[in-house]
Amino acid sequence: MSDLDSMKTDALGRIDAAADLDALEGLRVEFLGKQGSISGLLKTLGKMSPEERQERAPAIQGLREAVADALGARKALLEAAELELRLATETLDLTLPAPEAPQGSVHPVSQVMDELAEIFADLGFAVATGPEIEDDWYNFTALNMPESHPARAMHDTFYFPDTAPKGGRMLLRTHTSPVQVRTMMADGAPVRIIAPGRVYRSDSDATHTPMFHQVEGLVIDKYIHLGHLKWTLETFLKAFFETDDIVLRLRPSYFPFTEPSVEVDVGFAIDDKGKRILGGSGDEPGHGWMELLGSGMVNRRVIAMSGLDPDQYQGFAFGVGVDRLAMLKYGMDDLRAFFDGDVRWLQHYGFSAYDQPTLSGGVGAGA
Ligand code: DAH
Repeated sequence: MSDLDSMKTDALGRIDAAADLDALEGLRVEFLGKQGSISGLLKTLGKMSPEERQERAPAIQGLREAVADALGARKALLEAAELELRLATETLDLTLPAPEAPQGSVHPVSQVMDELAEIFADLGFAVATGPEIEDDWYNFTALNMPESHPARAMHDTFYFPDTAPKGGRMLLRTHTSPVQVRTMMADGAPVRIIAPGRVYRSDSDATHTPMFHQVEGLVIDKYIHLGHLKWTLETFLKAFFETDDIVLRLRPSYFPFTEPSVEVDVGFAIDDKGKRILGGSGDEPGHGWMELLGSGMVNRRVIAMSGLDPDQYQGFAFGVGVDRLAMLKYGMDDLRAFFDGDVRWLQHYGFSAYDQPTLSGGVGAGA
C-alpha cells in the first residue's frame, strides 16, 4: 500500500504547488490522462486475481478520486485568482467622452424602406413580407401569368432545379407582387399593406443589378376605385419627396395582374446644371415626365386565385423600385455602387442610425 500512499502524497503536493492553469493541466495529463500514471494503475486491475482486485481496487479508486478532487479545487482557486488580477488591473472609465464619430451608417436602401414604412403606417398600412425563394405559382401563375404567358419572358428569371410544391419550379422572386397573393390567402380581406424587399433578375448594367429592391402596395376592400389609388400615390410621393409640388400623370398600360393598369409618371424640371428636379407638370416648357411606378386595379382573376370573391372585393396595387426612389431623392446616379460595400460611399450617402424617419420631422430629416 505504501506505493499508493507515496504516489498520493507526491501528487497532492505537486498539485498544491502548481503555479498556473497550464501547469495544472500538465499534471492532470500526467496523472489522469490516457497514458497517465493513475490510469495505468487502473488498467492493471483487469489482470489481477479476484482477491487481489478486491483489495487493490478501492485503494486505486481512492487515489484517483483524491487526485481528481485536488485538481478541481486547485483549478477553482487559480481561476478565481486570475479573475481577481484582471479586475484589479483592467479599468473602465465611464467618464471618458464617446468616440468622435459613430461607426457605421444606415444604407440608403434601409433608410428609404424605413421612410416608406413610416409614411404608409400613417395611412393605416401594415408591413408584409414573403420569401425570396419563391414558388412559380405565386410569382407568376397566381398573378395571371400562366405557364405560356409572354410576360414571363420579360422577367429574366433565376430558376432553381427543384420542382415547386405547386408543380412548377422554384425561383428567386422577380418582383414583390407574390406577396399580394400570399397576404390575401393568409389574411383574407380587407387588406392594406406594403411589402418591401429584395427581388432578383438576370440583368446587369449601370441601372440594373441582379438583385434590387421593390416595394409593393396592396389595398383590398369593398368599393375601392382608381380615385383611391391616385390619392394614395399622390399623398405617398408628396410625403416621400417632402414637397407638395408633385404632379402625377397616369398613363394606360398593361400588367397581367391589374385591369385596368396604369403607369405613373412624375413631372420634373431641368436645372442649370442639367440635373432633373422633381416638381411641376411635365408639360410645361423645359419640363418632362419621368416614369416612376406601375399600378392598377387588381385583376379579378388574381383576387379569385387568392381565395377571395371578386364580386365582393376589389382593390388597387402598385409596385415601385426602392433603389430608384433612393437615387431620385438622394441624388446617386450609379445603382451598382449601392451593393459594392465601399465604406467611402457609405460614409458619404449613409444615414446616422440616430435619425429615425418621422413624419413630424420630415421623413428624410438628417439627410
Ligand atoms: N410587379 C411589377 C414589376 O415588377 C410592378 C408592378 C406593376 C406591381 C403594377 C404592381 C402593379 O403591383 O400593380 O415590374
